[in-house]
Amino acid sequence: MATAPDAGDHTVGEAVGHSPDGVRRRDFIYVATGAFAGVGAVAAIWPFVDQMNPSADVLALASIEVNLAQLAEGQGIKVSWRGKPVFIQHLPPAKIAEAQAVDVSSLRDPQTYDERTQEGHRQYLIQIGVCTHLGCIPAGVAAGEVKGDFDGFFCPCHGSHYDDAGRIRKGPAPKNLVIPEYEFLSDTNVRIG
Ligand code: FES
Repeated sequence: MATAPDAGDHTVGEAVGHSPDGVRRRDFIYVATGAFAGVGAVAAIWPFVDQMNPSADVLALASIEVNLAQLAEGQGIKVSWRGKPVFIQHLPPAKIAEAQAVDVSSLRDPQTYDERTQEGHRQYLIQIGVCTHLGCIPAGVAAGEVKGDFDGFFCPCHGSHYDDAGRIRKGPAPKNLVIPEYEFLSDTNVRIG
């Protein structure tokens, strides 16, 4: 089983930006333990499209950068982006092979592992940690959390089980965990949003 760290409540990265009207904005990155002290983050402000638009537009378009250099195989972290948790996992080759071997025709929301990851960065699974049933935050990314029947994520609200690629396998959730827009800027530096 993957040995993810406690991704609970330690803030090691913070970035501050200013909207056009001067409102101060903060994006907090929550990561696990001291083992992740090297996981950093910076926020990027999208170019202004319309100076007359309120700061909400800027906030909505904000992106974050996360350095995954210290995220070892089998580990996962939770970061905050646009007010939502994002789970980032570094899957070992055996887990990737297992996820790729799943017969997607048997899935409620058929999607291959490769469709949920990017070529060249298949080891990193990046998904929004919000259950597609009623919006609870599933457990499973942190060490010691219940991972459900498919060794992935478990939403205890009404019992949705996701596999380790975030695909819904059991319970009321209708869809897989959502994959956000992201782009790798280098082998280990990713921009989300
Ligand atoms: S919100 Fe996840 S199972 Fe209901």
